[in-house]
Amino acid sequence: MRSLVLGLQFGDEGKGKITDFVSGKDSIMVRYNGGTNAGHTVVTSRGTFKFHLLPAGSLRSKIIVLGNGMVIDPEALVQEINTIKPENPHIKIFISSAANVVTKLHKAIDRSQENMRGASKIGTTSHGIGPTYEEKYSRNGIRVGDLKDRNIVEQKLKLISRMRESELRGTEYESEEKLSALASDLCNFWPSIRDYVTRTESLLFNYVRDNEEMVFEGGHGTMLDIDFGSYPYVTSSNTISGAVHTGSGVSLRKISRIIGVVKSYTSRVGEGPFPTELTGEPADKLREAGSEYGTTTGRPRRVGWLDIPLVKYASELNDIDELSITKLDVLGTFREISLCTSYGKEVKNPMNVMMGFEKPDPEYIYMNSWGKLTESDIEEIVAKGYGSVPQEMKDYIGMIEKMVQKPVKIISVGKIRESTIIKE
Ligand code: GDP
Ligand code: IMO
Ligand code: MG
Repeated sequence: MRSLVLGLQFGDEGKGKITDFVSGKDSIMVRYNGGTNAGHTVVTSRGTFKFHLLPAGSLRSKIIVLGNGMVIDPEALVQEINTIKPENPHIKIFISSAANVVTKLHKAIDRSQENMRGASKIGTTSHGIGPTYEEKYSRNGIRVGDLKDRNIVEQKLKLISRMRESELRGTEYESEEKLSALASDLCNFWPSIRDYVTRTESLLFNYVRDNEEMVFEGGHGTMLDIDFGSYPYVTSSNTISGAVHTGSGVSLRKISRIIGVVKSYTSRVGEGPFPTELTGEPADKLREAGSEYGTTTGRPRRVGWLDIPLVKYASELNDIDELSITKLDVLGTFREISLCTSYGKEVKNPMNVMMGFEKPDPEYIYMNSWGKLTESDIEEIVAKGYGSVPQEMKDYIGMIEKMVQKPVKIISVGKIRESTIIKE
């Protein structure tokens, strides 16, 4: 089976947990977009693991592949590999030689661009993601395969610095010596990764031909897609299912199961439209109950109720086969749950709201909650299966299925790996 796990909201849906859940010891895991702006959490009996570059299934799969569509910070990569190797010593790692390299210079440009944007800032992670993709598309990008040749890296850094003079003004990367030192620093990572670097698409073609078990993991969320998301408050890559092809070389036709992960409410980090956003005391309550603080930056996440027009749009756009609903335990802390069913009669196209072209007047339905679940409630539900899920939770899930018109197959009721249930 070849599966794809991706998020249908603004990121942080719990993709990491679901990716880990669907992976096994024979899986080949593939990341195909983004960089360390992603933060995917997996909680096991051995601790909490935060993945930024490696796919979340890395704890128990046999092979991981970082595709060409990614932007890779070599320092972060080496650190992450060193953390994961002791957990899964026999894992094989492959990194695309065509993936682009994030450098400190790109992080400086990211910060400088945000400063220049002033009040209209995007609220990026300042991990240099946008500028690295800009470099890729301007065809000056440093690719992973370049790291073996210090001269190439130095020349490219100098060219980039000249072209981006105004963005780098006042930073240390105006100086030639700093650029030379940066080239050396980057190339010093080459010996640690050289054995992993290859044309990953050729490998992946073989795995597909051999019918290997494969799981592709999307970074970010659908509404952060550069084309279809809430532009300009998006990331700089495509996050929808189609990005698998351009970001790894594997055609979407080869993937038989697309799982759209939906948090049972909504969260967003950074700026941009958020039709169901809560403020004040209810927001604080939801943020605390769900521990909604960024995995990558630690920023408090904005939170709100589940937004069905958004999820429905994202599920059509990604052509998903099934939904996975996470963090249902968190909603149990509220007595009544609101669910946004429409942006109001005046709104002609819900996605105009995401682009800031139309103003929403969200309409809600209200449902009874299942109440706060104790640890032993969760253990019991997990042990007995979906039949033992509280009726109110089944009603909530049923309502989502009815409105989005997609079946829910996996639900998550706690952060640990085991708190996951397959709905038959
Ligand atoms: P991702 O970016 O989509 O992988 O999500 P993150 O890892 O950034 O954020 C999701 C957070 O929710 C993490 O802290 C997870 O450990 C946690 N989480 C995932 N599923 C559940 C769940 O069902 N219940 C609770 N309480 N926490 C969950
Ligand atoms: P995961 O994979 C949540 C957001 C940033 C910012 C915008 C642009 O963990 O779901 P960038 O640094 O990418 O240029 O920032 O996108 N963003 C995310 N928000 N989860 C993510 O990833 C995100 N990746 C980017 O907060 O608003
Ligand atoms: Mg995250």
